[in-house]
Amino acid sequence: MSQTLVEHLKAKKASSFEAKDLFSKVVLESSSSCIFGLETEMFREDENSSPLKKHLKNMSDRSGLEMLLLILSLLPGVKTIMGKFGISALKPTETMFFYNVIKNAIEERKKSKLVRNDFIDLLLDAEEKLDNMTIVATAMTFFLAGFDTTSTLLGYACFELARRTDIQDRIKEEIGDAAEKSDDHYDFLNKLKFLEGVILEAGRLHPIAPSIGRVCIEDYELPDGSGIVIKKGESIAVNAIGLHYDEEFYPDPKSFNPDRFMDKLRDNPTCAYLEFGQGPRSCVGMRFAVLLMKSVLAAVLSEFALSPAEDTPMKLEADARSTVGGWKGPLNLRLTQRN
Ligand code: HEM
Repeated sequence: MSQTLVEHLKAKKASSFEAKDLFSKVVLESSSSCIFGLETEMFREDENSSPLKKHLKNMSDRSGLEMLLLILSLLPGVKTIMGKFGISALKPTETMFFYNVIKNAIEERKKSKLVRNDFIDLLLDAEEKLDNMTIVATAMTFFLAGFDTTSTLLGYACFELARRTDIQDRIKEEIGDAAEKSDDHYDFLNKLKFLEGVILEAGRLHPIAPSIGRVCIEDYELPDGSGIVIKKGESIAVNAIGLHYDEEFYPDPKSFNPDRFMDKLRDNPTCAYLEFGQGPRSCVGMRFAVLLMKSVLAAVLSEFALSPAEDTPMKLEADARSTVGGWKGPLNLRLTQRN
């Protein structure tokens, strides 16, 4: 997939790209293949006519009213009232579209008896214990949980890298060393520790989930002597941005410094980093996402240098409608092919 991307950029003689658009296609293509075994051919000329892309975009774009409905539906009792009036905070058209895509993919797989070792195969292995609806809902959750998150973080990583040729040079050097010493692509990606630090640092500066939600399962008195008790059943939101910018854990917190993640953070409590959550309900797709992002960035940075385009903003403005801490407006970046 990463190679297809690079060939696409070379064939187009691309001198710039819009980050959200490009990385949505990359992630869509790889997750469709790894989860459903579908080839989406996102880099075809007429990719804009793809119903998959259109519905995914609609799924993640929420109008002000839809955001309000979603927030209201979290209040006790409101969902029931909305249900009575036939109002849904979710996206029924898009949900049904994905339901059908996944159901067809599963039925096709059963008929063809093809084994691809992808997510659909895993779900079918567990078929005796799962009903059809659970299989489809699980595949859909994975697909949606991984799409906007991964493409957005790739965009943030490139935004930070564009102004840091020194960091791009270090990545290039690491890629060269790893390529010489690796047996296969997986081994190669695992050797890219500095590039991994780049991704984690981009996630620290631009958290995909600005806060992490939990429901308290037993009364808990805060150990700070304030006497505040969180009652069983109450919801809490843990402030990821606050932790990620806390000087106690991250000195000079506003600077982009991937070296923080090179062995130096061992003394931090694990909950000081919440890009993928923490604990038993943390992100199950983290390893897949990090591997995919490493593969994409390694392929692009081997062939191209990144720099700001004329209209690249100095600072990205948060998009209040984004459910994954995304930025507002286009993010154009310049590409220069290396010799
Ligand atoms: C850069 C990419 C990603 C980021 C930043 C991210 C972030 C997160 C975060 C913050 C959570 C909530 C964790 C918590 O509450 O402790 C989460 C949960 C989850 N993520 Fe991801 N995620 C990413 C990619 C993916 C991918 C690629 C998949 C699937 C292939 C995925 C599947 C899930 C699922 C299923 C959950 C719910 C886990 C549960 O409730 O037990 N994520 N993710």
